[in-house]
Amino acid sequence: MSAHKIIIAIDGFSSCGKSTLAKELAQRLEYNYIDSGAMYRAITLYFLRNFIDFSDHDKVLEALANINLLFVFNEETQTSDIHLNDEDVEPYIRDMIVSEKVSEVAAIREVRSFAVAQQKRMGRKKGIVMDGRDIGTAVFPDAELKIFMTADPEVRVVRRYKEMYATNPHITIEEVRHNLELRDYIDSTREESPLHQAADAILLDNSVLTREEQLETVLEWVKDRATNPHPQGSAVH
Ligand code: DC
Repeated sequence: MSAHKIIIAIDGFSSCGKSTLAKELAQRLEYNYIDSGAMYRAITLYFLRNFIDFSDHDKVLEALANINLLFVFNEETQTSDIHLNDEDVEPYIRDMIVSEKVSEVAAIREVRSFAVAQQKRMGRKKGIVMDGRDIGTAVFPDAELKIFMTADPEVRVVRRYKEMYATNPHITIEEVRHNLELRDYIDSTREESPLHQAADAILLDNSVLTREEQLETVLEWVKDRATNPHPQGSAVH
């Protein structure tokens, strides 16, 4: 679309549709898509599998030294899967057992430094769409386009429930609601890079937008930012 590649940072609460938008943008623009949440989830999976005591900083550092994360492009799904020490862990990282602990793990300073250092390296060549909680505020504070996504909490609960029900029909809507509320609370109140809208991010509330409307709106912003890199933030509802 544009010869001038930019960095697109997408932040927001859990289950706002950040990854759906990010994947579609990456495909349309031929950019790399990086799901930064998958990195925190893979680290959590490693900690759980190896019984790492999250409250012990030395044990956390020792564990991180044994973790190698890599995104590998999957031809079938046309998106990148996260590999933990050469194992494709995509099938496990969205299980409830990981979802229940990931916000706690992502709040640990050493874990964030480890993940953020890799994320910054991935953006060196631009042409990247990354979604998460601190992408526009901490990982890429100079990103040409920052989007802060939000949606009605009940819309998010239903979306997440449908997604999780597909692989776990025993899940209840109450469990999903509780997990989302808890994660939103921990993610936005933690000391290290809490979730908040960057001053120069555009607010995108997608409660009532269709996927196509959302994508077309954001593609217009990309076109604009690729030629005019420093406009002011604004709101779209
Ligand atoms: O996007 P997600 O729900 O897969 O993210 C899982 C958790 O990881 C989320 O509860 C908060 C954390 N996270 C973070 O702290 N910073 C990021 N950039 C991405 C995710």
